[in-house]
Amino acid sequence: MKIGNVEIKGFAALAPMAGVADRAFRELCVEFGAAYVVGEMVSAKGITYNNDKSLELLEMSDKERPAAIQLFGYEPDVMAKAAEISMKYKPDIIDINMGCPAPKIASNHSGAALMKEPDLCGEIVKAVSKAVDIPVTVKIRKGWDDNSVNAVEIAKICEQAGASAVTVHGRTRQQQYMPPADWDIIKKVKQAVKIPVIGNGDVTSAELAAKMFEQTDCDLIMIGRGALGNPFIFQEIAMLLGHDRPTFPVSNEERISVLLRHIEKLCEYKGEYIGMKEARKHAAWYFKGIHGAASLRKRAGTLNTLDDLIELCKEALN
Ligand SMILES: Cc1cc2nc3c(=O)[nH]c(=O)nc-3n(C[C@H](O)[C@H](O)[C@H](O)COP(=O)(O)O)c2cc1C
Repeated sequence: MKIGNVEIKGFAALAPMAGVADRAFRELCVEFGAAYVVGEMVSAKGITYNNDKSLELLEMSDKERPAAIQLFGYEPDVMAKAAEISMKYKPDIIDINMGCPAPKIASNHSGAALMKEPDLCGEIVKAVSKAVDIPVTVKIRKGWDDNSVNAVEIAKICEQAGASAVTVHGRTRQQQYMPPADWDIIKKVKQAVKIPVIGNGDVTSAELAAKMFEQTDCDLIMIGRGALGNPFIFQEIAMLLGHDRPTFPVSNEERISVLLRHIEKLCEYKGEYIGMKEARKHAAWYFKGIHGAASLRKRAGTLNTLDDLIELCKEALN
């Protein structure tokens, strides 16, 4: 499939996840076969104010292509300016967040709150598309709440305004991350627009990826929580869908060795102090399913140095 002129080879993309989908994790997921990756959401205003933390989030490398920078905000001119500045970091695509349910984002007109203002969604896409010469995409939810399910309307407006693809997370803002995602809404959007539709919500295995393709007819799948501590999911999907072969479970040795490589990258990019703080949650995710996981996860919460992690990994394998 193609998003604008950007070729996407494969079946599944890594979802934008604040605090998780950083450069280290994105690179790892691409290594394991992610077809496309979207970075953590970044405040458009923060970028235009030259905020260091916002600009840091824009960093990307050639080991994670194709990749998108995701912006959140609500003012078309600020979003356009932020997209223009973001171009220095060489993204392949600019994605616009129209789905974040977090109160500090949604109570400020941004994220999922944009779905309550369909015209504004169109204006933002138009302004951003005019500001950059790479594809602009949107990530939406099913709607704001059960009384305002308008994913189809928003997708059409965004397509009309110049969006090159739309990702649909099959839950309303009110539903946050529960109950099970509604894949039917993804199908409805797919039937309503000509641009590629990326299906998102609750794909946690290669089998579920195949099921989502079948049920929704979407062009690409996007995986969020199913990839936590589990970049292997992209390889499993490629094996099942690409070669029609059954998948096999990842060994504990491989799981631990990838965890170590992930955290080494994290420390290389962010320094050991910050890297190891962030490593705690990742380690806990990777330990899931390993013998003695409960105690390993507890100890993961106390990691301070790479040496601590190496020691813990040795114990996990014993
Ligand atoms: C920790 C976390 C952070 C997230 N951050 C973002 C974000 O920055 N931008 C965004 O559009 N969605 C974000 N999401 C939503 C995911 O991209 C995805 O839509 C959602 O998790 C549903 O997919 P899943 O069932 O595969 O996890 C986040 C989700 C999680 C769990």
